[in-house]
Amino acid sequence: MIEVRGDLFLLATRSTSYWFAPTPHGHLEHLHYGPSLPAQDPAALRVKRDLPHGSSVVYSPDDATSSLDAVPLEFSGIGQGDYRLSPIEVAHPLGFDTDFVYAGHRLFDGTAPHPTLPVAEAGEQPDVQSLEVTLVDALAGLELTLVYTVFADVDVITRRTRLRNTGAATVELAKLASVQLDLPDRGFTIRTFDGGWIHEAHAHDRTVSSGVFSIGSTTGASSNRHNPGFLLFADDATEDSGWAYGVNLVYSGGHASSVERDAHGSVRVLSGIQPQGFRWPLFPGEAFETPEAVLAFSAEGLNGLSDRMHRFVNAHITPARYRGLPRPVVYNSWEATYFDFDEKRQLSLARQAAKLGVELFVIDDGWFVGRDDDTAGLGDYTVDAKKFPSGLRAFTRKVEKLGMRAGLWVEPEMVNERSELARAHPEWMLRVPGKAPREGRHQQVLDLCNPDVSDYLVEQVGRTIDEGGFTYVKWDMNRHLADVYSPHVAHPGMTAHRYVENLSAVLERIFAPRPHVLLEMCSSGGNRFDLGMLRFAATIWASDDTDPIERLEIQQGLSYLYPLSTISAHVSASPHQQTLRDTPLSTRFNVAAFGCLGYEYDLDFLSAEERREITDQIAFYQAHRALFQFGRFRRGARPRPDRFVWQVGDGDAAIVGNVQRGVRAAPERDVLPIVGLHPGIPYRVVAKPQRLALDRLGHLVNHVSPVKLDPSGLVMNVVSKHRSLPDAVEEYRGTGELLAAGIRLHMQFAGTGHAATLRMLGDFGSTLYVVTREDEA
Ligand code: DGJ
Repeated sequence: MIEVRGDLFLLATRSTSYWFAPTPHGHLEHLHYGPSLPAQDPAALRVKRDLPHGSSVVYSPDDATSSLDAVPLEFSGIGQGDYRLSPIEVAHPLGFDTDFVYAGHRLFDGTAPHPTLPVAEAGEQPDVQSLEVTLVDALAGLELTLVYTVFADVDVITRRTRLRNTGAATVELAKLASVQLDLPDRGFTIRTFDGGWIHEAHAHDRTVSSGVFSIGSTTGASSNRHNPGFLLFADDATEDSGWAYGVNLVYSGGHASSVERDAHGSVRVLSGIQPQGFRWPLFPGEAFETPEAVLAFSAEGLNGLSDRMHRFVNAHITPARYRGLPRPVVYNSWEATYFDFDEKRQLSLARQAAKLGVELFVIDDGWFVGRDDDTAGLGDYTVDAKKFPSGLRAFTRKVEKLGMRAGLWVEPEMVNERSELARAHPEWMLRVPGKAPREGRHQQVLDLCNPDVSDYLVEQVGRTIDEGGFTYVKWDMNRHLADVYSPHVAHPGMTAHRYVENLSAVLERIFAPRPHVLLEMCSSGGNRFDLGMLRFAATIWASDDTDPIERLEIQQGLSYLYPLSTISAHVSASPHQQTLRDTPLSTRFNVAAFGCLGYEYDLDFLSAEERREITDQIAFYQAHRALFQFGRFRRGARPRPDRFVWQVGDGDAAIVGNVQRGVRAAPERDVLPIVGLHPGIPYRVVAKPQRLALDRLGHLVNHVSPVKLDPSGLVMNVVSKHRSLPDAVEEYRGTGELLAAGIRLHMQFAGTGHAATLRMLGDFGSTLYVVTREDEA
């Protein structure tokens, strides 16, 4: 809820408070963002200015202590004595000087609509309130509105900024942050999620110290370089305790965030649109509104913070049509066939997938005319009659007859030079006049600033979905922006942002009228994994990397800010196509299960054993889908960097995954805490039965086999395809408190023999533990 007491602004969620109030000179002083505080005189929270400070610029000649450099502010400016990075840079007739002072405010229920971009929605929650605080700089002719929305149920506050030109001259905006947050330093660490293609969202930590640390994307998309979301946590914070802040943007374009520690022990966080290449002319009377920034605080460590962000995304970001909707188990044909397929091959895969229990079959890239590789065809929506002689609808009917739904891959924002579309409309691509275009994956970017392009996409993609009878779309985007110039905007600096605005409009126009179509976003994997896309999509393909060991870092990185219901994760072949790493099928599933499960596999080469195992995996996932997709997720403490522990669910039921990247000789005795269960209630913890392929034992198999086998011989090969050993025969019991203290797991294999309960993990081994109440069994 939001309350204004005198001149004190009190924003409160279930367990956090956010306070600010004007200074005597009208600047908004930030007072507190942290645990809930009862309303009271905030004097103790104000920055004390007892005497002037050396080498500082004084704001008011009547007040020698009025230097702004030491004051935590809600939104600063340039030229008033605050020398930290400014959240705004706007060129107006008097230069860059901006001095925003309080002019008024407005409180209202619900959220504030954004004119061009998606923002979080109230959903079914009644306790969502907004506050707009207006500040003015009369001399510069500017009015700045800070928009706050409080999502009390999930402990999230969003912020954004609106700038209006109230003067008589045109001004040019070069930077406008969505949020500024000035916090007292608590020995902060900043954790960012960075990487590149096939190694997205790896967590990196740096201590916040003097100076500025920044991340951002200049690619036109939120990018796999640096996710727009990041964390800031106190020096004593852990996964389960301590102060932690999360910041994210509901934006899919280029972004920039900085964290600056100043000489007074204050940390300034700025986040918003990437200023490089951004210029926005504001004609008299016009306004510009930034994307929405998302803030969360938890005094219960990083897991507490993630829980708040997850509940926020599930309740307020995911479109209403997908909210809480179980995500289907998908089969995607890409890694099985790449471009080399026809209807017969797809149908054979579909038949096999249906038998395994798959619920939705996706035809990936390669279905349209000219698309035999990635050099041609993008932009055209005519089905390749050589591949699908009876058309897509005939194919999807066959898929439906097999008991599955059908999905289709598209990449609408792009065009190959070798396509009908490029030939018909060479002027539809983003291009700098007089310059040869820069290609990425042989493709160029359509100019979404052009309304004709938007209309074409809405019509073509919509028609393809409807005519083909698809209920699932994978929307890909396989390159970054370059040649960022469009004749359809008033200033070249508007192009990249306008692209994102118009992309949002296109997505809305295609998918809002088709609520039965589930949308999965993709950008060469996780090159656009952000809240902007999640306002339209149910899930995002997290990475082209399906190696489970690589996925541990990627999915764990994403889990800090994004719920498992949004993370697509597939099981694929081993050795892996990108790493050559050989991993057990059990681990490939055990990692993918912590997300929205799919298979991306050449099913023709599955052995009988693998078919049995996959069938069991899918049935297991279906039985526990609600936990995997919507259960509370926690990362376990990692006593060794090679061990990952993930828990979904708590209260009455949970599943815990324990994955080991690398084995050591005579491995340590593993302890497995399971948290969040009811005290005094007895639980049973059973390892999900899985199979150990015989060939994984190599020559050791001769210790258990009645006949001597050549470990690399034909017989062993054949036997392995039909026989395997039971693995993970473990069972434990205890009350909620006992399990929280930590189960001492059975020993791992150490070369001293074999026992049914022994944990045969080795490199890349893993187990899923299913926790149920004994009294309800
Ligand atoms: C990149 C995606 O990430 C892949 O899954 C696949 O759809 C290819 N594009 C197809 O070109």
